[in-house]
Amino acid sequence: MRDVATVRRDFPVLAGTANGKPLVYLDNAATSQKPRQVIEALTRFYTEENANIHRGVYELSQRATLAYERARANIQRFLNAADPHEIVFVRGATEAINLVATTMTRSRLRREDEIVVSAMEHHSNIVPWQIACELTGARLRVIPMNDAGELDLEALAALLNERTRLVAVTHVSNSLGTINPVRTIARMAHDAGVPVLVDGAQAAPHLPIDVQDLGADFYAISGHKMFGPTGIGVLYGRTELLDDLPPYQGGGEMIRSVTFEETTYAPLPAKFEAGTPHIAGAIGLGAAVDYIRHLSWDWIEQHEHDLLAYATEALTAIPGVRIIGTAREKAAVLSFVMDGIHAHDIGTILDQEGIAIRAGHHCTQPVMERLGVPATARASFAFYNTRAEVDALAQGVAKVREVFG
Ligand SMILES: Cc1ncc(COP(=O)(O)O)c(C=O)c1O
Repeated sequence: MRDVATVRRDFPVLAGTANGKPLVYLDNAATSQKPRQVIEALTRFYTEENANIHRGVYELSQRATLAYERARANIQRFLNAADPHEIVFVRGATEAINLVATTMTRSRLRREDEIVVSAMEHHSNIVPWQIACELTGARLRVIPMNDAGELDLEALAALLNERTRLVAVTHVSNSLGTINPVRTIARMAHDAGVPVLVDGAQAAPHLPIDVQDLGADFYAISGHKMFGPTGIGVLYGRTELLDDLPPYQGGGEMIRSVTFEETTYAPLPAKFEAGTPHIAGAIGLGAAVDYIRHLSWDWIEQHEHDLLAYATEALTAIPGVRIIGTAREKAAVLSFVMDGIHAHDIGTILDQEGIAIRAGHHCTQPVMERLGVPATARASFAFYNTRAEVDALAQGVAKVREVFG
């Protein structure tokens, strides 16, 4: 059994203060804090192994290459991908989705084709598809959701047809916390012959992911949201699909041969990794994955489930507070509104208490519109948060009510 006090000691930032109060960091859906193990992996790389990869004949470059490719294999195991070449390093979940949207635009999408997304997508899983539609004449279709923030799968069944080229859905909603039934969605899409892209940016920090079991054809993750560095993420893609797509960016590393007449491309994953990648970032993400593994998913899930239930009860008990996002299956994200008080005012008062939450539309404006709220306040938890921090949040929210009451 892990104990959260010991876990917290691995995260230097958590011992700090904000506005003279002990920091209560509850904005993990925006970005997570980094354990010493990740920070040390970055420092070690830059102090002992820094060289460019894949091209040096000298030992230092070979060591850097080995460390980078070891990180790829590590993330392959983390996602249970069938092959390391199905792991493509990118800048983050946004770039992972843009990679698929851009390359599909150039190769597969035609006028009248359809891309299906859901009503609860982050803008990064909407806008790339809108751009793709603008360029090709394809159309965006949307799976609706109910008031609790659960997708309507009957509506999805009705949306799938011979023109559908992709279903792109989030695994966990960043503004509502809903865990979507991705396995069922993938089965429905596959029965209609349609591949599925899953935005796993908010799932990877909270749930064990098995891309093969889920039936995800593409899966996007973001390093900085899962205790790794910023500027690194992964696109998982099934071999056949990645092989079938044209390159994303042109440059060094992604070619087999270049002449002015003709260029041929490197095999996976190099075909999608043009230029010098974020080598240290990939190694740092590998260390983050090791860290999650050492805590164990059983402990993480049990602890976060407890925090979410405790926080939901505590906030619901405060008059005038309404939880936004009440799906039956939820990860540790708690959005709420307060009668007559704007979310930004909630965020500002909590900040004075040293409590960091997010206020706004969370890059999900269509969710706000669907649920009829301009913005929400959002507390999002990680495994290093505690019940005492939830108590501080509840006290802070009660104070907001006093101030504005
Ligand atoms: C559900 C979801 N998808 C995608 C993203 C974008 O991720 P990144 O910061 O890695 O580009 C976010 C970030 O908030 C997110 O919450």
